[in-house]
Amino acid sequence: MGTNRSSTLGSPAWPAKRLSPSPVESTLSPELTEHLEAARARATAATSNEDLRAIDRDYAGKGGVVAGLLAAIPTLPPEERRDAGQGANRLKQAIAGLLDERRAELEADAIAEARTGKGFDPSLSIPAPARGSLHPVTSVTRELEDIFTSMGYKVLDGPEVELDSYNFERLNIPADHPARDMHDTFWCEVTGAERDSRMDLLLRTHTSCVQVRAMEELAPPFRVVVPGRVFRQESVDASHEHTFHQMEGLVVAEGLTVGHLIGAMKTFLREVFRREIEVRLRPGYFPFVEPGFELDARCPFCPKPGAGCKVCKHTSWVELCPCGMVHPAVLAKSGIDNEKYTGFAFGLGLSRLVMLRYQIDDIRHLMGGDQRFLSQF
Ligand code: PHE
Repeated sequence: MGTNRSSTLGSPAWPAKRLSPSPVESTLSPELTEHLEAARARATAATSNEDLRAIDRDYAGKGGVVAGLLAAIPTLPPEERRDAGQGANRLKQAIAGLLDERRAELEADAIAEARTGKGFDPSLSIPAPARGSLHPVTSVTRELEDIFTSMGYKVLDGPEVELDSYNFERLNIPADHPARDMHDTFWCEVTGAERDSRMDLLLRTHTSCVQVRAMEELAPPFRVVVPGRVFRQESVDASHEHTFHQMEGLVVAEGLTVGHLIGAMKTFLREVFRREIEVRLRPGYFPFVEPGFELDARCPFCPKPGAGCKVCKHTSWVELCPCGMVHPAVLAKSGIDNEKYTGFAFGLGLSRLVMLRYQIDDIRHLMGGDQRFLSQF
């Protein structure tokens, strides 16, 4: 007792004060008082909870001082046993009290010390907050939007829940048309309204429906691109997803020809790959274009143009997009004079472009929401 101690954090030593006497103290025998004083001296010198636990073990624990006192009772004359038992319990109680008191003191000291700023190192770096990043579909979309905007295109948006008439009818795909089979459609059930086929709602199966909306709203000449999500009731596998992304393009003006379509696609490819990329057209059937094509690009990933590689499956061509000249009937249905104007349209597979760009081999990663995938971008 009366020694100075310092805390583990290295605070200045402070004078020990005597831990307060317990109310049972005065009733203890001289021998028990001696034990209590010894315990108090140790508690006062204790600087950690670990020290306090050790004292508790030595006095109240198995084989400790109190246990020894209790074990000796049967050896005492019967008339002393009661007092001895009570004394041992009081000693235990008194020690528990002073350990509690010291524990509270140590806690208060630690708090006071933390408040002085001891142990605070302003030069330590703080953990950086986790930063989000753009989804690969978003960054590719923005990049393409930039390119097309620089070519004079407007970026349009349209509803994902669409009317049958925009998604099919006005694109020359009437209800009984076999081309509908190419689109496994999610239909929406419209409740509460009287059944009316003009109200048939679906999740758009392509972005081409926004072609119709654009023709309704804009007066030719115009150029638009429409990036967006589309939905099909696919059996999902590595190359088919129920939700994926397309970017539609539509240009309507006087005197447009297939040459303009090819020119637009080549300009676009030159911007993406920073060099001239050869393209070729194959016939393709889509009811809203005539003629319709599949446009392929010379594989930009081959080590030498035309060499063939894994990406193009050694054909040296990659399918870029279906496209074609807007069918005159489609122009007419949207009130555009098809004698005066012609148009071309293309449907870039945005999801596919993203997969090509980052060499992602499974389309399910794109919409899967897996943090381990997303944090790579
Ligand atoms: N919308 C068509 C599809 O998803 C693709 C397409 C777009 C074809 C534009 C021609 C012109 O299958």
